[in-house]
Amino acid sequence: MTEPLLHVRDLSVTYPLRRGPLDMMTGKPGRLEAVIEATFSLQAAQTLAIVGESGSGKSSLGRAILGLETIAGGEVRFRGQPIGPASLASLRREAAMVFQDPVSSLSPRRSVGQLIGEPFRIHGLTNRDVKAEVLRLLALVGLPGSMADRYPHQISGGQARRVGLARAVALDPKLIVADEPTAGLDVSVQAEVLNLMRRLQDQNGMAMILITHNISLIRHVAERIAVAYLGRIVEEGPAGALLSAPAHPYTAALIAAQPHPDPDRRRTAPPILGETPSLLARPKGCEFRSRCPVAMDICASQAPLSRGDGTGRVVRCHLTADKETGT
Ligand SMILES: Nc1ncnc2c1ncn2[C@@H]1O[C@H](COP(=O)(O)OP(=O)(O)OP(=O)(O)O)[C@@H](O)[C@H]1O
Ligand SMILES: [Mg+2]
Repeated sequence: MTEPLLHVRDLSVTYPLRRGPLDMMTGKPGRLEAVIEATFSLQAAQTLAIVGESGSGKSSLGRAILGLETIAGGEVRFRGQPIGPASLASLRREAAMVFQDPVSSLSPRRSVGQLIGEPFRIHGLTNRDVKAEVLRLLALVGLPGSMADRYPHQISGGQARRVGLARAVALDPKLIVADEPTAGLDVSVQAEVLNLMRRLQDQNGMAMILITHNISLIRHVAERIAVAYLGRIVEEGPAGALLSAPAHPYTAALIAAQPHPDPDRRRTAPPILGETPSLLARPKGCEFRSRCPVAMDICASQAPLSRGDGTGRVVRCHLTADKETGT
């Protein structure tokens, strides 16, 4: 098998906690574990969707992959090279982020034209006709050339997303991490933005990590799906198989929570029970146990390990482990 474009191994991200009552009792400042030992690979031109509820660590993981977040453990390899201070500049040339909040991620003092032209200047590509590139990119994302003179506060949220996308794809990246690229857009515009990303992918052979809490969105877009729960990937595998036969009860519940477009195929899986636990009060044993409709005794005492099922799917659940040992 060819070497993956991106390989993420045991990647962890933590944030310092603000000093609170707990610190005073224990005397040491705590850290919030936002991403815990995430592992997956991505091939060139492939799309991996990362799904999960709010706070499951999706954005933290996406930013950490592109070196925008300090890594607490594990590693990221791009074309086989570990990402570190020495290789960060070349990664930035070939990989880009579409940020979750489109407006606040654009510097308010720069015009749209300056913002889209920035990647060329940052990477010293001054031999290019930046103005022409800006017009090309505006057209590519379906915005008129006149938009170049506007400032971020003068454009809509949907337009800001397109500007973010234009910036991200300016240098024909080999990888983009798109964080909720269609959130807050009308359904028709959502489809347009996704189609645009697909088109760019077909043209440039670009790989994509699509971060979303909306599983129905990725049905036709992603080749692989990773499901995050409380910072851990609980299931990862080929999109079709994962959606039609989820192995983890959390994946099943996420899918069941989305209305299926075909009423005859609506699923009857049980809904997720109760609230998401706090990242600071993780349940013992399996962390999904407190909401799992099929939890067993072992789930209360032992955290399940990630296990491959032999078909390219990895699942973190005692049920899957049971089935394996049973055969
Ligand atoms: N810069 C930061 N400093 C401190 N805590 C952070 C920071 N960024 C995220 N967190 C915390 O880390 C956890 C994971 O956040 P993250 O934004 O990665 O989740 P998410 O899955 O992207 O959520 P959403 O779907 O709401 O965007 C949350 O508890 C969040 O409050
Ligand atoms: Mg997020």
